[in-house]
Amino acid sequence: MNLQDLRRNYATRSLDREDLNADPFAQFDQWMREAIETEVLEPNAMSLATVDASGRPTLRTVLLKGFDRRGLVFYTNYESTKARDIAENPRVALSFLWLPVERQVIVTGQAARISAAESLRYFLSRPRDSQIGAWASRQSQVITTRSLLEAKFAEMKAKFQQGEVPLPGNWGGFCVTPATFEFWQGRPSRMHDRFRYTRQPDGSWSIERLMP
Ligand SMILES: Cc1cc2nc3c(=O)[nH]c(=O)nc-3n(C[C@H](O)[C@H](O)[C@H](O)COP(=O)(O)O)c2cc1C
Repeated sequence: MNLQDLRRNYATRSLDREDLNADPFAQFDQWMREAIETEVLEPNAMSLATVDASGRPTLRTVLLKGFDRRGLVFYTNYESTKARDIAENPRVALSFLWLPVERQVIVTGQAARISAAESLRYFLSRPRDSQIGAWASRQSQVITTRSLLEAKFAEMKAKFQQGEVPLPGNWGGFCVTPATFEFWQGRPSRMHDRFRYTRQPDGSWSIERLMP
């Protein structure tokens, strides 16, 4: 396998300062819409980087389930590795990779738990078996065999046979309040366009072009 010769020239789009919305949330909204319209697979999938108290970084994919002016929301298990990291160090980074449109968006900021009421609203919108799955899995814990997980799933399915599945106490959302957004557009010859928005103390955003 020769990875050195894998080379794509990004040439379909460009990004100029005058194209940018002054508000990075509006810019993100526009790019997310375009990713969805272009039928990017899982456009709301994002890499989430966290760092523990000793400075050790880890990374995984989660799904963005909503965003507004407060920030970007994802849902997870509050006892998972990522949630433990966030409890020790709320600084996180997010990365969206939309290859069909030759774009990347990177967000850095601080993660905080959302309210149980907001988590419950989303939890109730999930398919019933996903709700049961949240009860069955102690995310990030070691397990010796899949059959134990399946037994737990069956046990929870029987337990919550009737009525609504309640919100597990260890499950819910995090909201990432952005400090920076970077919008990256691939261009020919590795001369890509990059713009970074940085939140200012007064709440406004500065915009800078970065070299590729
Ligand atoms: C496409 C995709 C979407 C995922 N979405 C989520 C998600 O929204 N929430 C979540 O907790 N895990 C999600 N996962 C699983 C995580 O990547 C990860 O395995 C899990 O959250 C445990 O991470 P941790 O041990 O680092 O905390 C997703 C994985 C993939 C590949």
